[in-house]
Amino acid sequence: MPVATAEAGTDYAARFAQLDAWLDEHQALWRAKPFTSPQLPWEADWPELAAWLRSRTLEQAEAAHNQPHVLDAPEPFASLARRAIELSRLPQWHLSAESLTGLSSPRSTTGDHNRLPELLTRHIPGRKWQQISHFAACVHQQWQQPTRHWLDWCAGKGHLGRLLAWQGGQQLTCLERDPELNRQGAELGLQLGITSQHLDADVLQESSWRYLRPEHGVVALHACGQLHMTLLQQAAAQGCSHLALSPCCYNRIDHPDYQPLSATARAGRLRLSRDDLGLPLQESITAGQRVRRLRDQSMAWRLAFDLWQRQARGVDSYLPTPPRPESALNAGIAAFCRDLAAHHQLQLAEPDSWQELEQQGWQRLAQVRNLELLRGLFRRPLEIWLLLDRALFLQESGYQVRLGEFCEHQLTPRNLLLIAEKPDTQITPTL
Ligand SMILES: C[S@@+](CC[C@H](N)C(=O)[O-])C[C@H]1O[C@@H](n2cnc3c(N)ncnc32)[C@H](O)[C@@H]1O
Repeated sequence: MPVATAEAGTDYAARFAQLDAWLDEHQALWRAKPFTSPQLPWEADWPELAAWLRSRTLEQAEAAHNQPHVLDAPEPFASLARRAIELSRLPQWHLSAESLTGLSSPRSTTGDHNRLPELLTRHIPGRKWQQISHFAACVHQQWQQPTRHWLDWCAGKGHLGRLLAWQGGQQLTCLERDPELNRQGAELGLQLGITSQHLDADVLQESSWRYLRPEHGVVALHACGQLHMTLLQQAAAQGCSHLALSPCCYNRIDHPDYQPLSATARAGRLRLSRDDLGLPLQESITAGQRVRRLRDQSMAWRLAFDLWQRQARGVDSYLPTPPRPESALNAGIAAFCRDLAAHHQLQLAEPDSWQELEQQGWQRLAQVRNLELLRGLFRRPLEIWLLLDRALFLQESGYQVRLGEFCEHQLTPRNLLLIAEKPDTQITPTL
């Protein structure tokens, strides 16, 4: 299948239509969660695949989690995996931006940590710095026209905006809700001789939207759901000349149902809940062994509670379990489960053996994690569907849009970048 990487509007619309149809057709495979549904709706249709996944160990599930595509599982797993990859392919801009020298700015030394003023990189952990420098390099490479004024949306201390403004000698405005981050950002800007404004602004409030101006090149690195959706709507309304956005936390939205931005997605088949939007984010972070062990124990005990409460109540339905502090694990599984029962104001007959129940909880965890591998195939396609909704909205608003990956997946799974420009804008700076 030819994969759309081109820039014409119809390509993204066509790509969206393919994804929309595919995700809709296979929704029984990715919507239901093995953690909350002991039996999944697709298992009756694909018994061989279900049995194969259920027979595997927790360690095997862990090993395959970040690359379920390579699993040698019974059909339809392999066919779905192939199609998921086809539908998720995007240009890898970081490869062409890897020679991160010689970018549009004479002062640019992006990627070369050693040649930058120490103040630019101060307080930035290595991984974050790499994300920022890759993002900046891709922006320089992809934007056809330079900007005169950067606006960093949900800027934190404004590290990204400061790097871009330092490279090109332009002005910088940062919008950020946390005054302390703004104070520190302003100090760093002053010390570097950058003309920067760090405004205490809640970007969800209408009063903040007036800061967006047509001459702004707006950047947003990892702004959560509602924050970046608001940006797209308001930047388009204000006619900002350039936009570069890497979205994250798609599920942090105001409404319980996803409200598509584009007319194309609104006319599509797929309807998503806030819960569905969590799927693209379900990638295991590179946690240490201790953290992983505690997380697994907590999940195995919650699953043990689920088995217990269903059996003791005689009601086959899931009861949500609230977050518990790490210390809750110290008191043992019996106290842990009794606390969860008390949370639901339930007095349940105790199981014959807590030890046996715990063992069943661990068995179920292994099954859950392996069954999750099938949902895992849909993580990236759903994320690309969401990205295309954003891209199509901007196209419908008169922007030229390009989509790509700004860094390796290992650096951050949220590595998608949307680049948008108003064609042929004659920008008169607002004084
Ligand atoms: C994930 S951080 C990203 C920060 C920065 N862009 C980066 O990549 O380092 C999200 C930032 O958004 C800010 N934020 C959250 N809600 C906000 C709001 N309603 N208005 C403005 N900033 C907000 C947070 O304080 C935080 O600094």
